[in-house]
Amino acid sequence: MYNVKYNINKKLIFTNLFTKEPYMKFKTIFICQKCGQESAKWLGQCPGCLEWNTLVEEVTKQESKTAKTKKSFIDFTSGITPLNVAAANEEKRIPTNIAEFDRLLSGGLVGGQMLLLAGAPGIGKSTLMLQVAAALSSDKKVLYVSGEESMAQISARASRLGVNGGGIFLLSETNIEKIIEAVENLKPEVLIIDSIQTLYHPELSSSAGTVAQVRENAGEILRLAKPKGIVVFILGHVTKDGALAGPKVLEHMVDTVLNFEAEKDNVLRILRPNKNRFGATSEAGLFKMTSKGLEDVQDASAYFSQTSRAKKLVGRAFSISAEGTRPILTEVQALASPTHYPFARRITTGLDLNRCQMLLAALEKHIGLSIDNKDVYVSLAGGVKINDPALDLAVCAAVISSVRDFALEGNCAFIGEVGILGQIAAAPMTERRIEEARRLAISKIYVPLLNDKTVKKSSDLIEVEDILQFSLKFK
Ligand SMILES: Nc1ncnc2c1ncn2[C@@H]1O[C@H](COP(=O)(O)OP(=O)(O)OP(=O)(O)O)[C@@H](O)[C@H]1O
Ligand SMILES: [Mg+2]
Ligand SMILES: [Zn+2]
Repeated sequence: MYNVKYNINKKLIFTNLFTKEPYMKFKTIFICQKCGQESAKWLGQCPGCLEWNTLVEEVTKQESKTAKTKKSFIDFTSGITPLNVAAANEEKRIPTNIAEFDRLLSGGLVGGQMLLLAGAPGIGKSTLMLQVAAALSSDKKVLYVSGEESMAQISARASRLGVNGGGIFLLSETNIEKIIEAVENLKPEVLIIDSIQTLYHPELSSSAGTVAQVRENAGEILRLAKPKGIVVFILGHVTKDGALAGPKVLEHMVDTVLNFEAEKDNVLRILRPNKNRFGATSEAGLFKMTSKGLEDVQDASAYFSQTSRAKKLVGRAFSISAEGTRPILTEVQALASPTHYPFARRITTGLDLNRCQMLLAALEKHIGLSIDNKDVYVSLAGGVKINDPALDLAVCAAVISSVRDFALEGNCAFIGEVGILGQIAAAPMTERRIEEARRLAISKIYVPLLNDKTVKKSSDLIEVEDILQFSLKFK
């Protein structure tokens, strides 16, 4: 029974006669789909992340004032105990035996670890997960929950990948309550959720994939899995601009965020940890997509170069870049051509434009390279993007080669960072880069002055101090 009266704003309100609570059919709030910021009214710009048009009206759970059921993320209350380091077990790693996957997890998974695997649609998230599930299922119970694919589709993929299904349990479900029930009955040691955007919480009336749903469902999974020590993989789609739907809310909840990336029209897939509570984030895993699934790429250098090293070419220079701690042969290409514009153009692909402009200015100033009436294009072969100062010297070499129109040998590498004063400095891990160049049978390696005793000096190393000396030497 409700009491009807006007409030101070002359609006009709209904109050429950017995509980004195205002009558509400449902409550809506506006949630930013990018950062999760909540607002009582619609705003054009999100006050949290300053994005425009990201606030979406969502119906929230009907909460009464008397029965507040606010849940904390983690429920494993243990009472207050002093930290006892000696009693703690040495952190045990669970290897997946997929070499590239273990490498970026610093050796393997940790019990109770919660990982978010994010990537664009069709990049191979489900494929990777099925392979990880298969590897773990030899001695662990794995529950694979798919809200996107039917049993038949997953089985077909498993047979294409040559996965032995023993130990993997499949569940095609999107209702979080049913999933929790399944976990409690089956008691798996590994849980895979494919994907978080398809799950829905029946207590929320907003649709699956919205921030409120994503946050609530991930919270439920966290509360369920952490105390039991279940390793959880949550798969998530990223939106067009590279953001994960409801990213902030998920990223701080999980232990590890893995980003799965691919370059266009390339079979190469790069898995990068963005956050890792149990290891470094500098490593990257390299995979190749084949009909048999994702294969480890051990020899990365084969993928980052396009042209034959046997030929001499104008405007092409090799360098050894570093992806994490792994050195990779990288090909820089440059083209300088007379400009038809009032201002000469500088265009880069795969490299930072500002850094290239700085290098061009340094070349102009210190060796008198005439480029003011030339358009200059600099790109990295293989469609990759690399931000590594060690490539500077190769960029300079490729540009000088194109401007002065002479061919560079293919069996030659340029490793070094170039400063605005024209000085050449050692990039991090120069020693490892040199080792990789030698492994690839590169016979001439241009490097900065090596004061470092760790690098074995030999006739293949050509030390250069600044770009003037370099430009005279490398012809
Ligand atoms: N027979 C095949 N041979 C080679 N590659 C294949 C084959 N079948 C599928 N693929 C590759 O697998 C990719 C799809 O993988 P997967 O379904 O694991 O991606 P996903 O990230 O889970 O996608 P979604 O976002 O749709 O769930 C395809 O884009 C394709 O590159
Ligand atoms: Mg998938
Ligand atoms: Zn926002």
